[in-house]
Amino acid sequence: MLCGIVLGFVFAIGAHARALGQYARAVDAEALSKQQYDFVIAGGGVAGLTVADRLSENPKVSVLVIEYGPFDQKEDSVLVPGAYFPVPYLWLPFSSTPQTALGGTVYSVPCGRVVGGGSAVNAMFFHRSSAEDYDAWDALGAKGWNWNSLFPYFKKSETFNRPDATYAKERNITWDDSVHGFSGPVRASYAPYDYPGSANFYNGARSLGIRATKDPNAGDATGIFRLQRSVDPKTNTRSFARVNHYDRIIASRPNYHILPNTAVGKVTFRGTTAVGVEFVNRTSGVTGNITAKREVILAAGAVHTPQILQLSGIGSASYLKGLGIKSVVDLPGVGWNLQDHLVQKVNYNYTNNHFPNGGSLQANATYAAEQRALYDANQPSAYDLTATTGNLIIQLPLKDFTSDAQSIISLAKSQNPASLYPKAPASVIKGYKAQRELIIKNINDAAIGDISWNTGPETSLYMTRPLSRGSVLINTTSILADPLVDFGAITDPTDLEMLYAIYIKNRQLMATPDLSVLGPSETSPAAGVTDKAQILARLKATLQPSNAHECCTAKMGKREDGGVVDSDNTVYGTTRLSVVDASIWPYVVGGGPQASVYAGGEKAADTIKRRHGL
Ligand SMILES: Cc1cc2nc3c(=O)[nH]c(=O)nc-3n(C[C@H](O)[C@H](O)[C@H](O)COP(=O)(O)OP(=O)(O)OC[C@H]3O[C@@H](n4cnc5c(N)ncnc54)[C@H](O)[C@@H]3O)c2cc1C
Ligand SMILES: *[C@@H]1O[C@H](CO)[C@@H](O)[C@H](O)[C@H]1NC(C)=O
Ligand SMILES: *[C@@H]1O[C@H](CO)[C@@H](O)[C@H](O)[C@H]1NC(C)=O
Ligand SMILES: *[C@@H]1O[C@H](CO)[C@@H](O)[C@H](O)[C@H]1NC(C)=O
Ligand SMILES: *[C@@H]1O[C@H](CO)[C@@H](O)[C@H](O)[C@H]1NC(C)=O
Ligand SMILES: *[C@@H]1O[C@H](CO)[C@@H](O)[C@H](O)[C@H]1NC(C)=O
Ligand SMILES: *[C@@H]1O[C@H](CO)[C@@H](O)[C@H](O)[C@H]1NC(C)=O
Repeated sequence: MLCGIVLGFVFAIGAHARALGQYARAVDAEALSKQQYDFVIAGGGVAGLTVADRLSENPKVSVLVIEYGPFDQKEDSVLVPGAYFPVPYLWLPFSSTPQTALGGTVYSVPCGRVVGGGSAVNAMFFHRSSAEDYDAWDALGAKGWNWNSLFPYFKKSETFNRPDATYAKERNITWDDSVHGFSGPVRASYAPYDYPGSANFYNGARSLGIRATKDPNAGDATGIFRLQRSVDPKTNTRSFARVNHYDRIIASRPNYHILPNTAVGKVTFRGTTAVGVEFVNRTSGVTGNITAKREVILAAGAVHTPQILQLSGIGSASYLKGLGIKSVVDLPGVGWNLQDHLVQKVNYNYTNNHFPNGGSLQANATYAAEQRALYDANQPSAYDLTATTGNLIIQLPLKDFTSDAQSIISLAKSQNPASLYPKAPASVIKGYKAQRELIIKNINDAAIGDISWNTGPETSLYMTRPLSRGSVLINTTSILADPLVDFGAITDPTDLEMLYAIYIKNRQLMATPDLSVLGPSETSPAAGVTDKAQILARLKATLQPSNAHECCTAKMGKREDGGVVDSDNTVYGTTRLSVVDASIWPYVVGGGPQASVYAGGEKAADTIKRRHGL
């Protein structure tokens, strides 16, 4: 089954540079030297390829995407969900700054570096967040970016695939056709395979009063529900941006080019008008310029878009002066407001667990071989699930994690935002205060965290509504050096309290009859510990500050609130320069981000078309 897919792609990788020819293709730098494009896009990830696809629908419009990473080579670890991780296309090694609230520990900064960006390396969970999250963006100054306005773009971005009816009934999979799209680029589906332990998890959750959500994509993403994945159900392979916004359409797009293995070093300006980019060959360091006749579009992700902006002279003028960078626009918000989701792994030994379970592919070679054979024969298989993950997730607002929500809210309200975020510019603090008020307002309605059990040894907890903020700041003038990434993890102690509430809820869940029958015994992070202070210490020692959901570092919103782009994605103080990736969000969505990045890319593409009369 995989063979068909691989062959279909070969000509896309094998194609090489010519001037604007018959087919879209990967081009090399030399062939570009005399080219001009209407649009030059920095970063070929989720947002970058979505926008490139939509703009190049018009045959008169030429588009070049410059991507730091290579094209993938159809590795199993990319295409086959059950062979997931490690993937060879991460930005590695890449470490954060020492985290002040975590004893100075440094953590890795996960992000994709390949054509397709995060969508080529992510765990493929594909879902929208609660309406409150998007409505908060609009309320925070991202005018016109709300649930209702994004809804048509969520639909436009996907082809939703219903599960087999009998299977769905047996596994309690429910959905709402009316909220889905059926002709968009991203293939979305449910794994056609499940482990018996899912029923224990489902029934245990129900016994705690957690509701079964009909469809988390309808505006209320709370409750327990089956995870939808960006997987093409025809081939059971990853549906990522390289496939759904490039390979899918190349045969008809001579006007769509990708230059891989090349860094965008900076945006070039005439005055404050963006006229192109300077690119850097990653191996030789040789630079070149390319002209963008209509617009330069930044889509390098929330870690690297602010890096490119700062290297281009857009950021705090006084900070950039210290690095010898001439200011183009004094825009202090660039690089601030970094957010992500906290991850806490919890492991249990089970004396009486089912076989098979979410650990069996790793633990039992016979089972793995059997399942792989089924997968290759296009039969339902454990390889249809992202490896080491289960099918169900619980997402809840604060009040459903703890009866103590009020004291957590009081703790949040008692913080002084300016002292939590001491180095942030005044405008950023102003915007941060407004965010905190809305977060507190929505905290008992929209999801603040998740519990997902893989039906084997691992439970994953996520705290997805951080009040802490971080930053991405350059400290060299080279695009080939990593920026300084400070997650600012749990600098607001409220975040640790919320993680604790999720952790305790998981213990209650494991103690329900449906789950305790499996004989769970916690092995980490706090086996046998009941004292709250000790548990908090164990969580601090074992949590991860990033779930690779970085966002919000070139925020859409008012300039006086630390905003970097206006509601039309244009960078303040410039013309012909926009940002379209997850950097523009005012605050992080409560669920997995990729569905929202695809939808935001669709919306941005329409905005850009409109402003150029296309
Ligand atoms: C390991 C991992 C697991 C994840 N799991 C999930 C999940 O299961 N569900 C979910 O919803 N989300 C998940 N995510 C997050 C999701 O993939 C991201 O939120 C999403 O990809 C962000 O889209 P983007 O367009 O903002 O940036 P990206 O998709 O990251 O694209 C940015 C691109 O820009 C390129 N780039 C950077 N700097 C430069 C430069 N100077 N010049 C040229 N190109 C540059 C990068 O190489 C990258 O390809 C995961 C991410 C990772 C890394
Ligand atoms: C970068 O430079 C190397 C060495 O000169 C060359 O082989 C390679 O093709 C260049 N890469 C691109 C994308 O042009
Ligand atoms: C589905 O729901 C029914 C009724 O709530 C329950 O008995 C059954 O165990 C569930 N099955 C799964 C796979 O969740
Ligand atoms: C690219 O353009 C910039 C700005 O005009 C200029 O400073 C730089 O020297 C150019 N680089 C190359 C390699 O031509
Ligand atoms: C390993 O997998 C095989 C094949 O599914 C199964 O028969 C066997 O019982 C498994 N072994 C264990 C220890 O679970
Ligand atoms: C930039 O930061 C990195 C990582 O902390 C450090 O190794 C490097 O020395 C710094 N460079 C400069 C010029 O300050
Ligand atoms: C978990 O089970 C394994 C295998 O049975 C055993 O080796 C290990 O000691 C157990 N760990 C704990 C903390 O109970």
